[in-house]
Amino acid sequence: MKSIIVTSLSLLGLVFTHPAPSDGPVRILPTNWAFEITSLKGPGCPDLGVPNGNDRYTRLTYGENTVDGSEIYYWFIAYPSLRVELGKTDSTWCEAELHYTEYKGLMGGIEGEDYRLRLHKNGTKVISTYDIESDVEATFSFMYLDADITDSYTIRGPAASGKYQNQIDMVGPQSNLPYAEPKCGAAKLKFRTELKIGGPGKKGVVDSEHSTDKDSKVQYYGTQLGFSYDWEKC
Ligand SMILES: *[C@@H]1O[C@H](CO)[C@@H](O)[C@H](O)[C@H]1NC(C)=O
Repeated sequence: MKSIIVTSLSLLGLVFTHPAPSDGPVRILPTNWAFEITSLKGPGCPDLGVPNGNDRYTRLTYGENTVDGSEIYYWFIAYPSLRVELGKTDSTWCEAELHYTEYKGLMGGIEGEDYRLRLHKNGTKVISTYDIESDVEATFSFMYLDADITDSYTIRGPAASGKYQNQIDMVGPQSNLPYAEPKCGAAKLKFRTELKIGGPGKKGVVDSEHSTDKDSKVQYYGTQLGFSYDWEKC
């Protein structure tokens, strides 16, 4: 069973969350928590997370979680500039630093240190669009830099998502997971996303849902990478 966390407030990239109530299994989670992008680096996020008129920018989008006791949480980051095209841009990357805060109250306020965040609970998800001919392949990699864990997924052509985005589960090492942050409460998280395309084939594009604005400029929603996590009680 899955539930989408409803974003109650989104201001300067700071997002508060309300976990879905549950009357079933015992769940391990703080009253509230937030992620905020604090730094971006690389050709896959040249906007640095700063809104620029009509353009979409690198940002946090939404979270989802299970409510059946399995405690699998995801939070998604959208990267509008994370896209590749065979023969034009064969690879790109972005390194993101996020600040994680635990709260004792529903709308923020007092910070908590009652739970320890654990990352890489269940791999990583990627939401993207693609159109890849035969003999071309594209690979997504997502690295949890502090733990040196990389999840990846390769799309081998021919493969086409159609106009609408497709969700893919990326997997990596399955042992000793999830990995715990060194301290309870607030934490700094570091992720590196890479996207590469190559092969002897003729054509291949990986990008995200897009439309053309009134100035004939293509606006990309952003390829979304969802990192996974849960908590342990301190
Ligand atoms: C956990 O990851 C697996 C793939 O490794 C995926 O099939 C499953 O849907 C994921 N669970 C959730 C709740 O997203």
